[in-house]
Amino acid sequence: MTTTTLKHIPRHIGIVMDGNGRWAKARRRPRSFGHNAGRKAVREVVEGCIRQGVEALTLFAFSSENWQRPPDEVGALLELFMLALDKEVDELDQNGVRLRFIGDLSAFDKALHKRMVEAAKRTAGNTKLQLNIAVNYGGRWDVVQAARQAAMAVARGELAVDAIDEAAFERWTSLAEVPPLDLFIRTGGDHRISNFLLWQLAYAELYFTETLWPDFNQTSLQLAINDFARRERRFGRTGDQVAQAAAR
Ligand code: IPE
Ligand code: IPE
Ligand code: MG
Repeated sequence: MTTTTLKHIPRHIGIVMDGNGRWAKARRRPRSFGHNAGRKAVREVVEGCIRQGVEALTLFAFSSENWQRPPDEVGALLELFMLALDKEVDELDQNGVRLRFIGDLSAFDKALHKRMVEAAKRTAGNTKLQLNIAVNYGGRWDVVQAARQAAMAVARGELAVDAIDEAAFERWTSLAEVPPLDLFIRTGGDHRISNFLLWQLAYAELYFTETLWPDFNQTSLQLAINDFARRERRFGRTGDQVAQAAAR
């Protein structure tokens, strides 16, 4: 597998892992079979990110809207999270992965919540890759919870309203300490955000692939990274300005 030069490696990748249901349907199996098959793809991208030197990976595992799915599918997903926490955390820890969960975790039952907190605590000192799993997460929720924290700081008299600028506000968002999101990937062929990281997506490069999540592997990740490496990120400037800055 070829490795792109380091400067073109995204520091932070976010992925909407979509297409599990369609993958299972094509095999005449229940949707939960597809979710389960998606675990292998998660291992592949984690391994790929470590190999490539990506610093942070944020995976959308369950959106705040996914509660609307049939109860048996929601139940199967929650069970899968429990299983994955039992089976995968040792290896992630050994591989130097720092695991965190972002989203409104208060909605989960105590046992699951506790395991998420414990896994985060246990891996807190790891530095190879920051792996953030978004569960019961919504980009709008994230902005609102940050606004609420800012309002509380003002109400306590600790913060002036004028001091709330973009940098200050960002510190209350779920991914405050994580490098800026460089690359957004969505599998499964749909071209939408589905309420993933709204704030962080402002200047991320967007990459969409037809590949269904259970089929996504290290080669698929490499293709996405290669595509990212070919893009010119201008951040509002002109192409000439970007070229001049790169030559310096
Ligand atoms: C993504 O796959 C996984 C979750 C939303 C939890 P889907 O279950 O949405 O798969 P499709 O989109 O129906 O194929
Ligand atoms: C987005 O996928 C959420 C996750 C991958 C967890 P969905 O399949 O729920 O998105 P929509 O409903 O098609 O927009
Ligand atoms: Mg879907």
